[in-house]
Amino acid sequence: MHMVELIAKKRDGYALTSAELDWLIANYTAQAIPDYQMSAWAMAVVLRGMDAHETTALTLAMARSGTMLDLHDLAPVTVDKHSTGGIGDKTTLLLGPLVAAVGLPMAKMSGRGLGFSGGTVDKLESIPGFRTALSSDEFRRLVREVGLVIAAQSSDLAPADKQLYALRDVTATVASIPLIAASVMSKKLAAGADCIVLDVKYGSGAFMATKAEARQLAQTMVKIGHQAGRRVSAVLSSMQQPLGYAVGNALEVREAIAALRGNGPSDLVELCLSLGSQLLLMAERASDEASARAMLHEALQSGAAWAKFCHMVTSQGGDLASIEQPDLLPSAPVQIALPAPRAGYVSAIAGASLGLAVNALGGGRSHKEERIDPRVGLSLQARIGDQVYLGQPLLTIHAASMSAVEAVVPQLLAAYQFSDTPVKPPALMEVVPGD
Ligand code: URA
Repeated sequence: MHMVELIAKKRDGYALTSAELDWLIANYTAQAIPDYQMSAWAMAVVLRGMDAHETTALTLAMARSGTMLDLHDLAPVTVDKHSTGGIGDKTTLLLGPLVAAVGLPMAKMSGRGLGFSGGTVDKLESIPGFRTALSSDEFRRLVREVGLVIAAQSSDLAPADKQLYALRDVTATVASIPLIAASVMSKKLAAGADCIVLDVKYGSGAFMATKAEARQLAQTMVKIGHQAGRRVSAVLSSMQQPLGYAVGNALEVREAIAALRGNGPSDLVELCLSLGSQLLLMAERASDEASARAMLHEALQSGAAWAKFCHMVTSQGGDLASIEQPDLLPSAPVQIALPAPRAGYVSAIAGASLGLAVNALGGGRSHKEERIDPRVGLSLQARIGDQVYLGQPLLTIHAASMSAVEAVVPQLLAAYQFSDTPVKPPALMEVVPGD
């Protein structure tokens, strides 16, 4: 087989066979196919799509590109969660401790920032000392000892996705249902959990612009999971505005800590209760949604989820003082408010523009090896539906310098729209049943 022929086949709109996809993924993983050819193929997939058979074949090839973990010797049932990425999405930081605190071990491999969206691994690494590069042995030990582990994709788990994910981030090849489905599900299948909940986001701050596309992505992933013998369900959640108020790595960790201590934004808490309930139901730890939510609520109120988070942070080398006193987390030297350019009701917030502004401040990457600045980001003061007066702060920009602030002000102002009449905030979510 020749890579040029496979690129041309996809460019011309034909489906690749399982054998071709196995060959492609095996050779890319072995670094026998260069990034430039892989980028051309990924762009052909973005433009031409993939059918259901190809998407499943690609997912399985990527999952099998490395070790497939089996966690059954550690716990009878383990759970996992994945988000398709959105602005201000710190869900894992709250959901993981919540479900682990009610006795469901969560073994989670997370990603770094991708395109305009942040990544859990980058967020956690803003806690001094926190290690996300774990070997399979350590990952397994922490599942057993702590009941919660959040690690970067280790090089032996779905290595094909690790390489392709970083490549797509910098080649404008993120927004594709088959590529996202294969990326997410290959990691989930390789990481070995029995029950998987997918948080599929749509709106201006997500890779899927519309709810219809999000539903299609959710159904594609749920089907792949079932074909591989896992219990999977999905929640469609709105990204018409950022989740919570914080966008940026250390800022989001601070907001997650506040939530774990009972003082979180209601949309973040609500989403986590919903995702967590799906996991408890799939794992047969609760008989209905109301009792699942009550269990999770109790874990939050009692401090059990916070204790679990602290245990996870210390067991992965993180500095306990920095989470107990979040003022010790990295913080930006320049913090400037963005004043509302007019009075009115906030009617829209272009989430992707906020995410790109955070990247421009240094909070995300524009090439694969770039280091990020955990201190920078945005803290929102006005969200959709809020009434503001002229000059009222819409958000605070956290930056390394004044010139960095000035560079992002025009795009931040352009991200907000206003109306003269009251505006209803968008509905948050809808569950797509898995079975
Ligand atoms: N999350 C992933 O893991 N992969 C994608 O492609 C998009 C979001």
